[in-house]
Amino acid sequence: MVELKSKKSLSKNKNILITGSAGFIGFHVADTLISRGFKVIGIDGMTDYYDTTLKKNRHEILKKNANFYAYEVMLNDKVSLSKIFKKYNPKIIIHLAAQAGVRYSFKNPDSYLDSNVLGTYNLLEEVKKNNVEHILIASTSSVYGANTKLPFNENDNCNLPKSFYASSKIATEAMSHSYSLLYCIPTTIFRFFTVYGPWGRPDMALFKFTSSILNNKKINVYNFGRMKRDFTFINDLVEAIFLLINKKPDKPENRVQKIKNDSISVAAPWRIVNIGNSEPIELTKFISTLENILCKKAKKKYVCLQPGDLIETYSDIKLLKSLTGFKPNTKLSDGIEQFVNWYKEYYKIK
Ligand SMILES: NC(=O)c1ccc[n+]([C@@H]2O[C@H](COP(=O)([O-])OP(=O)(O)OC[C@H]3O[C@@H](n4cnc5c(N)ncnc54)[C@H](O)[C@@H]3O)[C@@H](O)[C@H]2O)c1
Repeated sequence: MVELKSKKSLSKNKNILITGSAGFIGFHVADTLISRGFKVIGIDGMTDYYDTTLKKNRHEILKKNANFYAYEVMLNDKVSLSKIFKKYNPKIIIHLAAQAGVRYSFKNPDSYLDSNVLGTYNLLEEVKKNNVEHILIASTSSVYGANTKLPFNENDNCNLPKSFYASSKIATEAMSHSYSLLYCIPTTIFRFFTVYGPWGRPDMALFKFTSSILNNKKINVYNFGRMKRDFTFINDLVEAIFLLINKKPDKPENRVQKIKNDSISVAAPWRIVNIGNSEPIELTKFISTLENILCKKAKKKYVCLQPGDLIETYSDIKLLKSLTGFKPNTKLSDGIEQFVNWYKEYYKIK
């Protein structure tokens, strides 16, 4: 499925726990790790934010491999979570489970509090008790909020979130920092930038546009097309995550977070890493690339910027490059084509 170019020495004896393993990104990360011989324990609460059949189908594929152990459990179920930790003693945790999406956070903020704040807290409590070697946690470019300086750098202030989704992810980051500091837990925070690819999320632009264009329905073009996203292909994202598993932030020189021009020295083995393509694409270009691949024009409805949305996202990935030597490199048209091929096959469209 996802074919990666580089392999680094990560011990295969260590159990890896992935939360959100039936989700878009969790599925791909789990698939890659098990296909490389790692033992992966996947936890997913199968929330109904979008079509649960898609989630179940992702888990079914992973379950074909004997090295994958699936649990349909919410992180909010402390008893089950604790049993899983006792049974498998995972040394590496990749925390991807979350209530995602900017717009839905206006409709159902409770779900963000439950999953992103309480769910993460429950996980951190288990991590604290179980001698975990490295926890890697998904955050988002949305935390850059009202920042106008581009590209977004990990040291930029993130105290002006524009949506409750962003607020809940800032809370995730902050909680993990205090646990890292107090209990010396090596922690990496990923800030992902608009991830796309096969098995993608039905609430995201590429999926919605493809479905609407093929079904002759109108697509909403937000901010009249004048917005940019740093679209990141799933294979590139998985490659970056894989390489970062081995980059535990545990050395003293990594324990300094620079905030503005001040250096604040903290003892936490904790760092934030942007993972993005570092090449913002205009929404209009994104749509025309998709139209070319589908050989069909979209019916467009131009609408204003939606509350909570950023006008542009653009990742500074110097830190990712210096830690891993890797830079995302999939061309937008190649990535979209791979998505469209998967979409047509999955939904049996000729
Ligand atoms: N896809 C992107 O472009 C993108 C961008 C930035 C950040 N992220 C972050 O990356 C992570 C993965 O995103 P994704 O696109 O795969 O989303 P996704 O919705 O496909 O996957 C998340 C999974 O977590 C599960 N889940 C939610 N709450 C849970 C809980 N309390 N307990 C157990 N399982 C729970 C859901 O059932 C779902 O399968 C999320 O943390 C998301 O916020 C994604």
